[in-house]
Amino acid sequence: MTPGSSSDSTDKLSDSTDFLPKVPLLAIDRQNGPLREQFRQVMDDVCDSGRFVLGPDVTALENELSTILDVPHVIGCASGSDSLLLALMALHIEPGDEVILPSYTFFATASAVTRLGGIPIFADIDPSTFLIDSDDVARRITSRTRAIIPVHLFGQTVDMDALLPIANGAGIPIIEDAAQSILSTWHGRCSGGLGDMGCFSFYPTKNLGGFGDGGFLTTTRDDLADALRKLRVHGMEPRYYHDVVGINSRLDSLQAAVLRIKLPHLDQWTTKRAHNAIRYTEMMNHCELEDVITTPKIDTRGRHVWNQYVIRVADGKRDALREHLMATGVGTEIYYPVPLHLQKCFANFGWELGDLPVTEQAAKETLALPIFAELEPTEQATVVGRIAEFFGRPPVPDQIACMEKGSNAVSQPRQVRRTGLIGRADDVRC
Ligand SMILES: Cc1ncc(COP(=O)(O)O)c(C=O)c1O
Repeated sequence: MTPGSSSDSTDKLSDSTDFLPKVPLLAIDRQNGPLREQFRQVMDDVCDSGRFVLGPDVTALENELSTILDVPHVIGCASGSDSLLLALMALHIEPGDEVILPSYTFFATASAVTRLGGIPIFADIDPSTFLIDSDDVARRITSRTRAIIPVHLFGQTVDMDALLPIANGAGIPIIEDAAQSILSTWHGRCSGGLGDMGCFSFYPTKNLGGFGDGGFLTTTRDDLADALRKLRVHGMEPRYYHDVVGINSRLDSLQAAVLRIKLPHLDQWTTKRAHNAIRYTEMMNHCELEDVITTPKIDTRGRHVWNQYVIRVADGKRDALREHLMATGVGTEIYYPVPLHLQKCFANFGWELGDLPVTEQAAKETLALPIFAELEPTEQATVVGRIAEFFGRPPVPDQIACMEKGSNAVSQPRQVRRTGLIGRADDVRC
């Protein structure tokens, strides 16, 4: 079976697909493999140091991130989810307070609000970027609104030109959910430094992923930085004195040590993701898929860091296309099949189907394709070829399928020791 040949044989394909090239949604081993010896060294160092929680590696990582993101305060914590909770705690969110956020996001954005007794007020999204619609935010502000959480979803920065004046005009702080958008920018300034606080995740599938859970906060405000540093250690300052009740949310030294090995590569990995995104779009254009697939829209006022490459599939064919890709060895994911306003656990807030039409349509039509930095052009040609095959469109032309990575780069044979677990990070996603 070659890419682009008839799509009638999907059933036969699923009988035996062993001979087909497989493309995982994410192959973390390709990134970690070449750095393995460095990881071993720093893990030994942490082991010898006897410092396992916070400690010098965490402080060093915070300082390095502060320089790279050009934001004065960086505070490590135990996860991206905790970073959101801590940010809301720093703003003293209390039961009954309203927080505006998108429904089209990972669950943690909303659960941080409800854990404090706050009320999530969901705003709809822009249909072309999937990012929160500022006009809808403005409509939903009330006298009880205490914060707005824009999510820089899939790695693209929210239109802050539209959102900032609305929030500033109403005197409402902005917490950026930047869990998927490390190094994304808006007019050259990094996400996390655009609002009052930024919340980031080191979850393994993120662009800067650790060896487990981890996260951090950014802020330009000294008062919030002081509060956050205290809140992450049970509100303790000095030792065993507690003026406020915080939580236990500290970043481990081992995570920080591993992340410090990866951080210097992040910019280059991000550029590779962007090249992959451009290449996908070119390939899809060559396969004449425009009427059935909408490729991601890029807002040129910012840098998109491509944590996900998400297409929209027309005519109710998303799930069938996904099954075809699965049957032919291509990993995909649906982010997110059930918008948060329709989740069972939030039924008490009274949202109904039809309340957020753009969000609900996106949940039915979007599909994320493999976009990780180490993805090969030939693998992308396989992905697009399988899509073209499904829709009965022309195959990816050979000269495009063989395109090298980057304009002047030459593909090197990979020296990665295979773990046999390629793509296993697929199993757990946020
Ligand atoms: C948009 C968004 N917010 C928050 C989180 C929570 O981060 P963590 O998994 O590190 O808790 C994630 C994903 O992990 C996310 O994608």
